[in-house]
Amino acid sequence: MQKRVYLSPPDLSGNEFRYIQEALESNWIAPFGPQLDSFTELLQTQTGTSFAVPVNSGTSAIHLALLALHIQEGDLVFCPTFTFAASIFPVLYQRATPVFIDSESHSWNMDPVLLEQAILDSIENKQKPKAIILVHIYGFPAMLDQIQAIAAKYHLYLIEDAAEALGSSYKNKALGSFGHAGALSFNGNKLVTGGTGGAVITNDEELFNEVRVLANQAKEEKPYYEHLQVGYNYRMCNLNAAVACAQLEQLGQKINKKKQIRAWYAIHLSGAANIKQADAGIDNAWLTCVEFASAESPEKVRLALEEENIESRNVWNPMHRQPVFKDCTAYLNGVSDAVFANSLCLPSGTQLIEKDIIHITDIIKRSL
Ligand SMILES: Cc1ncc(COP(=O)(O)O)c(C=O)c1O
Repeated sequence: MQKRVYLSPPDLSGNEFRYIQEALESNWIAPFGPQLDSFTELLQTQTGTSFAVPVNSGTSAIHLALLALHIQEGDLVFCPTFTFAASIFPVLYQRATPVFIDSESHSWNMDPVLLEQAILDSIENKQKPKAIILVHIYGFPAMLDQIQAIAAKYHLYLIEDAAEALGSSYKNKALGSFGHAGALSFNGNKLVTGGTGGAVITNDEELFNEVRVLANQAKEEKPYYEHLQVGYNYRMCNLNAAVACAQLEQLGQKINKKKQIRAWYAIHLSGAANIKQADAGIDNAWLTCVEFASAESPEKVRLALEEENIESRNVWNPMHRQPVFKDCTAYLNGVSDAVFANSLCLPSGTQLIEKDIIHITDIIKRSL
């Protein structure tokens, strides 16, 4: 059987081995160290933010943002329904209440019209609208102008889940840097990985200090142990940072390759499916997602590729369809259901060459 083609495997083609060796040789096997410092600095530069706190996952980063903004029981947090559950679980860790908002069809992200309707309803029902978690799904910039304006109008905190959006931008500004806090992920399938990992990015110094303390067991800066509040062990290890730092140095090349892959798909699919791209701003082309004309096609294609040991994956199954969120309110317009029914993520690893894409697209075309 031919070697498995994964959806988006890690690509270690930079200084990963060197930085890991340096970390090991210097004995910095801890949630501190020079590799972690370099990674933090590079993240700030890359995202144009004043502060970055590397942590152990994107999920922890979202949780920390909610904690630092004092989101608690009874607070409403408006979230997109079309996302990965990790965008939402931290809302439940805080015993706050997620309200799901369907997508607009341009970017597949949160629909600002439905969002405003949901906020107005909650005000009328005397609930406590508190925050928006805005996800830039597949790295596609959401409708930031409209959503920022809504957040300001109703005095809501804006947290950007930019877990999939490192390197994407809107009006020349990095995604994740628009809201009160942004969350990034460096898990194994992301453009930049440390094996696992995440980061909170922000321009707000007070929030930064709060996040830093909370991520480190809420230890106060004292020569002895003092804790004023409940803390979390969410720090990133220096070894993960060594890998992630080498990866981040290569972000530009990785995005160029991802864009090349998407362009090859566009040529070789020859109209068999519609390739999703950012409608506004610039996306990082993390995964090539395609929409088929028929809802039967994604599963047919997925199975045909699987037979050749090639991984493809359904797009996110919306949160309003998930049993775990069955009691949550959702504002729906049918867009995310349709996207889920008709779309598929295709192999997008940066090691792929044009011959691989021709092979994959041949299988797709034959299976339809
Ligand atoms: C949109 C989104 N949010 C949050 C996360 C959580 O990140 P992590 O897996 O690093 O916890 C991910 C990735 O897994 C994601 O894709």
